[in-house]
Amino acid sequence: MRSFVDIYASKVAAGELTEDPAQAAVLPEFDRLQTALAKPVKRSWLSKPPAPPKGLYLWGGVGRGKSMMMDLFVSCLDLPCRRVHFHAFMQEIHVNLHAARKRGVEDALAPVAVAVAADIKLLAFDEMQITDITDAMIVGRLFEKLSVAGVVVVTTSNRAPSELYKHGINRQLFLPFIKLIEENLNVHELVSPTDYRQDRLVGSPVYFTPDDSTAQSQLGTLWQDLTGGVSAALTLKVKGRDVVVPNYHNGVGRVRFFDLCGQPLGAADYLAVAEAVRVLLIEDIPQLGRSNFNEAKRFATLIDALYEARVRLICSAAASPEMLYTEGEGTFEFERTASRLREMQSEDWAD
Ligand SMILES: Nc1ncnc2c1ncn2[C@@H]1O[C@H](COP(=O)(O)OP(=O)(O)OP(=O)(O)O)[C@@H](O)[C@H]1O
Ligand SMILES: [Mg+2]
Repeated sequence: MRSFVDIYASKVAAGELTEDPAQAAVLPEFDRLQTALAKPVKRSWLSKPPAPPKGLYLWGGVGRGKSMMMDLFVSCLDLPCRRVHFHAFMQEIHVNLHAARKRGVEDALAPVAVAVAADIKLLAFDEMQITDITDAMIVGRLFEKLSVAGVVVVTTSNRAPSELYKHGINRQLFLPFIKLIEENLNVHELVSPTDYRQDRLVGSPVYFTPDDSTAQSQLGTLWQDLTGGVSAALTLKVKGRDVVVPNYHNGVGRVRFFDLCGQPLGAADYLAVAEAVRVLLIEDIPQLGRSNFNEAKRFATLIDALYEARVRLICSAAASPEMLYTEGEGTFEFERTASRLREMQSEDWAD
């Protein structure tokens, strides 16, 4: 097994990664974990199993390389581990809880946690964020049970533990979990000044029109550059509905216009999408006419949500923003959408 520190250093030496002192400052934490995890656990009948090594809670601003470091770490470990994304993982937990309750299990989380812990030594949990009390309580108790089962947690987040679920309803119920995180995980802030995701887009056009094969290939190149070409569908639960971003990886989503605007979705759905992504690629935005009033209206709502959340937008479209919707109901309102689409193309947008 090669050490993470060596692998990281070789990527910097090869020019694949930019040298970054803030990232280098996290290396000892990963090194500590890798060494501790490699040690065989001595179990005896007479004594309690030893406490697992402390996990890692890596937090900081967007695009600083938290997920990249965590993923690279996971990829060089030689032991059973699982890497999950917050939304996908919570959804799986909800489904399993539902099934356990159906079987009449009283403490439904117990078997769910046992199943999660069963075959792994490390759970890498990307983009920890807590927005509702149900998730807050589930995540809290789950982490507690994983810790008892000896599973080490590594997680990334944009917030310090003490800032999680801030101003949330019944937050006092969540406070013991913050304490648990601070006790079981080493908390490290990645303070790098560089947003690498933003950097990758500097100097690159982000609005491609006409929507021809050149546009498709330029957009494809950006996607490859931002994600390495790896992705999976991201399903967001909104008021019991599924809102699907067909391709997602590390904060970058990729959809076609009709995936999001050709279905009866509304503001709550678009807000959830805007919250889940940092960069969104929208392909195949068509020129809209009188018969596309609903699509135009949804598109305007989507752009408003992305604008408010300062999401970076990359589009391929049949026409310039001002020419996308010029006839039909709501064209006056659409002028704001066009203006926002222009503003969102500027280089310092989302800085
Ligand atoms: N040192 C580096 N040199 C070059 N590229 C880097 C470096 N660190 C990260 N990147 C790239 O920057 C992009 C953003 O990194 P990453 O997704 O890990 O950020 P993050 O901190 O997890 O952001 P977020 O909080 O939005 O999830 C990725 O494409 C990643 O490969
Ligand atoms: Mg990330």
